[in-house]
Amino acid sequence: MIALGCDHGGYELKQEIIKYLEEHNLEYTDFGCDSLESTDYPIYAKRVAIAVQSGDCDKGILICGTGIGISITANKFKGIRAALCSDCFSAEATRLHNNANILAMGGRVVGPGLAVKIVDTFLNTPFSEEERHIRRIKQMEEDTDIVDVNPEV
Ligand code: RB5
Repeated sequence: MIALGCDHGGYELKQEIIKYLEEHNLEYTDFGCDSLESTDYPIYAKRVAIAVQSGDCDKGILICGTGIGISITANKFKGIRAALCSDCFSAEATRLHNNANILAMGGRVVGPGLAVKIVDTFLNTPFSEEERHIRRIKQMEEDTDIVDVNPEV
């Protein structure tokens, strides 16, 4: 199950992504928004982040105007690795290396043709399962309140 969310800046692109998901018989839950009316991206970022964090959804796709605000918000949730992508290379690499569980895009940045290819790449690339990437992902989740990360120096 894929969790979808957007603000007004991502609404039109989300409709294109929905078309792709339906054509490929991929199940999704749409957490809004539902129109071009101005709204606040953190609402939808939080809904999608919670759906993925809880395991109700396997992956999420978030779209705002730039993809920036919506990904920053989602990344505040423990266990969420939201990757802002504007190209297929990054979408593939973030699955292989970061095991990203949310794809973020900018509706005012990428056109629909490229966005659909980015989604396709993101959904169809498995995590590499390589030890060094597992280690780095664990490090991401470690205490981020530490001020001096390298006390030896
Ligand atoms: C809305 O105008 C815009 O600020 C939002 O979609 C997003 O780009 C924020 O990061």
